[in-house]
Amino acid sequence: MQRIARRSGTMDDRIAFLREFLRNPRQVASIIPSSRFLERRIVELAGVRSARTLVDLGAGTGGTTRAILGAMSPRAKLLGIEINQRFCQWLGRIEDPRLIAHCGSAHELQGTLALYGLPAPDVVISGIPFSTIDRATGLRILETIAAVLAPGGRFLAYQLSRQVEHLSRPLFGPAQVAVELRNIPPLRLYRWEKPAARVAPTGRSRRPDSTVARQTSTMRPS
Ligand SMILES: C[S@@+](CC[C@H](N)C(=O)[O-])C[C@H]1O[C@@H](n2cnc3c(N)ncnc32)[C@H](O)[C@@H]1O
Repeated sequence: MQRIARRSGTMDDRIAFLREFLRNPRQVASIIPSSRFLERRIVELAGVRSARTLVDLGAGTGGTTRAILGAMSPRAKLLGIEINQRFCQWLGRIEDPRLIAHCGSAHELQGTLALYGLPAPDVVISGIPFSTIDRATGLRILETIAAVLAPGGRFLAYQLSRQVEHLSRPLFGPAQVAVELRNIPPLRLYRWEKPAARVAPTGRSRRPDSTVARQTSTMRPS
């Protein structure tokens, strides 16, 4: 029991996940939450420790959310977004003043950041299943991420399928790819970094990251 809890959430998380998967397999896309191994890779590859504003898209029962909070700076803020009402209740139980738990869809990210007065995120992490949600919604979510991410920010997607890379390539360019074999099932992690803002001759940044940026640009693997 303890071994299972360390690998993929508590038994309660696992039951909730399976139940919601059976209700809506295309949206939940996994029968169990991410393992601690995957959570650790996410935190490392996204550069959570140095980030000030982070977003966890498709937070589920909050396993990834807790792992991010565990590594985050005391001054950072995390916006957790989840579309499933029952999972939102789980997220709402996490008591941490750095977390804003929001029940809604990832494609509304730009408005949601504005709603909470958050600046452009320097990290966006996504477990949203781009291969099973409809293509138009997936593209909208990716375009929104590309638009809101701060210059120099990281986008990390952990996925079973390669669809996210296919959809993202025109927006973000090629990805840096890692695989976490110790997760069930083994998953790929795709990472992109948005180019840092160019400095104008006056010495002032042309794209201040104190507001949510609207520009979409090709990002680079790093
Ligand atoms: C594979 S699960 C990942 C859950 C959790 N982050 C983890 O790793 O254990 C994908 C999650 O994305 C959520 N989801 C799917 N489409 C979404 C959308 N458009 N907006 C927000 N969340 C979404 C699902 O409800 C589900 O909780």
